[in-house]
Amino acid sequence: MQIGNSVRMNLLKRPRRLRSSSAIRDLVQEARVEITDLIAPLFVKADDGAPVPIESMPNQFRFSITDLVQECKELCDAGVRGVALFPVTPDEKKDPLGKESTNPDGLGPRALRAINGEVPDLLLFADIALDPFTSHGHDGILTEDGSDVVNDATVETLTKMAIVHAEAGAHFVAPSDMMDGRVGAIRKALDSKGLNQTGILAYSAKFASAYYGPFRDAVGSASAAGTRSLDKRSYQLNPANRREAIRDALLDEGEGADMLMVKPGGPYLDIIRDLREASSLPIAAYQVSGEYAQIHATAKLGWLDYEKTRNESLLSLKRAGADVILTYFAKELANA
Ligand code: PBG
Repeated sequence: MQIGNSVRMNLLKRPRRLRSSSAIRDLVQEARVEITDLIAPLFVKADDGAPVPIESMPNQFRFSITDLVQECKELCDAGVRGVALFPVTPDEKKDPLGKESTNPDGLGPRALRAINGEVPDLLLFADIALDPFTSHGHDGILTEDGSDVVNDATVETLTKMAIVHAEAGAHFVAPSDMMDGRVGAIRKALDSKGLNQTGILAYSAKFASAYYGPFRDAVGSASAAGTRSLDKRSYQLNPANRREAIRDALLDEGEGADMLMVKPGGPYLDIIRDLREASSLPIAAYQVSGEYAQIHATAKLGWLDYEKTRNESLLSLKRAGADVILTYFAKELANA
């Protein structure tokens, strides 16, 4: 109106020109989240009962193998390219060594075979770590006094676990344990078995984060251990350390990882960007259970707009440099 038109600055550069309509905004948009970027993490349980909702992760369930296959079909039909599987091991199958992790007829391998048989186009990522199988909830075998996780003996078990899951049909194994040298050991073992087409998605920069709380409820690694705040600081990265994260990730690249992951995602955007610049491998970001729970909880309180916050959280991961995103929002986004 009058007031607006009577004042004129002599501005040569007006960035707002490129924001003035939705057409121009679309045209100059730099990052986009595509459904084909997403991997859905899924929980699988041993019994045949109905899906069990996970309280701290709204709309997420522990599925029986039968329901899991159905869920995978729906995800695949909606355009999602991959799922990451997390077995919920019954407590009676847990022991201090996590022996169930290498059982070829364990829940994970059975689920992989079932999905492969019915949904052959979906990429299957098998998480490789001992925490769903150990009675203490740690990602490896403990020292005698229980104060630490032993590296090399744990890697030996992880290597067997990777082979069992690759043989069951995982397209990628995804070591999430943060032991030293595991990527190289797994790569060598896979190749020696002729499994040279099985890829490795390395959880390279996995931080000792408080954001994993709801996940530990979901897989029961917290209840086994009797605490949700298991101290994994002797193997997962210190949240304060940026250089160390890049160094560890580049070791994984050198050992033969096909993709590198940063986890959690949202609180570690700088690491995603650093890694994007330090490596030419595809970078994955894991938007973890606590990030998902946070958005749900604040929206439920009416304090944030659910859809806008969700979309912004994912867009930020792409803008930071992630190619692939593991997110519990995958299905609803694909169906939106
Ligand atoms: C464990 C593992 C964790 C997650 C994925 N794999 C938890 C942990 O390290 O305790 C967390 C995922 C999430 O919070 O969504 N190997």
